[in-house]
Amino acid sequence: MTILSALPPQPEDKIIAVMGQFAADPRPEKLDLGVGVYRDDAGQTPILRAVKAAESANQAEETSKSYNRLIGDAGYLEAVEKLVLAEAHDPARVTSSQTPGGTGALRCLFELVMLANADATVWLPEPTWPNHIAILSYLGIKTRTAPYYDHANGQADVEAFLAGLGGVKPGDVVLLHGACHNPTGADPSPEGWQAIAEHASTHGWVPLIDLAYHGLGDGLNEDAQGVRLLAQKLPEVLIAVSFSKTFGLYRDRAGAALAITQRKSHGVTEDTLSAINRLAYSFAPHPAAAIVRRILTSPDLRHDWEAELGEMRGRMSGLRSSLSDALRLATNTDLFEAVATQRGMFSQLPIDPRSVSRLRAEFGIYMVGDGRINIAGLTEEAIPRFSRAVATVCR
Ligand code: LMR
Repeated sequence: MTILSALPPQPEDKIIAVMGQFAADPRPEKLDLGVGVYRDDAGQTPILRAVKAAESANQAEETSKSYNRLIGDAGYLEAVEKLVLAEAHDPARVTSSQTPGGTGALRCLFELVMLANADATVWLPEPTWPNHIAILSYLGIKTRTAPYYDHANGQADVEAFLAGLGGVKPGDVVLLHGACHNPTGADPSPEGWQAIAEHASTHGWVPLIDLAYHGLGDGLNEDAQGVRLLAQKLPEVLIAVSFSKTFGLYRDRAGAALAITQRKSHGVTEDTLSAINRLAYSFAPHPAAAIVRRILTSPDLRHDWEAELGEMRGRMSGLRSSLSDALRLATNTDLFEAVATQRGMFSQLPIDPRSVSRLRAEFGIYMVGDGRINIAGLTEEAIPRFSRAVATVCR
């Protein structure tokens, strides 16, 4: 008897599908605005200077490849907690585990939720990153959605989101994007974060914050204000951290799952995070985490990394202004104004799936079917061509 022939076909991941379609297109002028990978003016995804330097130093100094702690490297985890939480860091209330990238952190935290409260519903902002929905459905965790985005003005609509949480129960989990919301690029205002914190406190739900673009919006401190506020105000907060984009470590996989707990639950949470690692892959991969640890704890490297992060942020913010201006001129509408004020790598353009298909077929321009574009996939040179193509398909 065979068993593999009975496997059901897997649902398509719409972001990974665009990667495949782009790779198969032979047209030299094709433009990739699909998967969220940073590119510079030359269209390259560079290895950051600080990453190269830290990697060389680690290789020169490494003396053993024996196992580290099951939960992860202590120096790495402490540096990550301080980077994310800063003044909100209370070691007696925070525990964390090293994970392979941000997806690893999300998977670990969803499993933690499942073990802590099998009855929990995880509430998702609509729209959200498709892998949130896919992993939760794979784990059999109940989900519901609440509308997050005001399509008319391109801003986060916190009032509608909180109203959409109408049926939330104490002990449910609400997934939030810490900064640079994926796919919309629209984040809550400081007042919006206050309202979210008050709602969580009143209704007893636990935030699970996906933090994959920390520092790519307005800055390392600015982008963490919402996360830090919730960490200070609420008894429990879960945070999935990714260093794929902010350190350019995509394929190397560095991330962390942080849990802010009550003091009395600190020990059992830490043990459970260790157990989740043991059951999935035992020990998380070390080299990329060791790079992040060295950069975050060496003043010169950290300074250089922050400068490079600032360069990435500045390039994307410049592209946003140029794109918004070019789309206004090309389409003779103000439909795309919000692109300039949204933050980070993504914006969701107000164009329908048919127009997205036409952009791909007629112009070799690739984006996710819901109109999400990776701003960093553009160059100043490509913006006029891109804007004319959008105007043509939207006519
Ligand atoms: C994206 O949203 O494009 C990135 O986070 C890459 C991914 O894994 O989907």
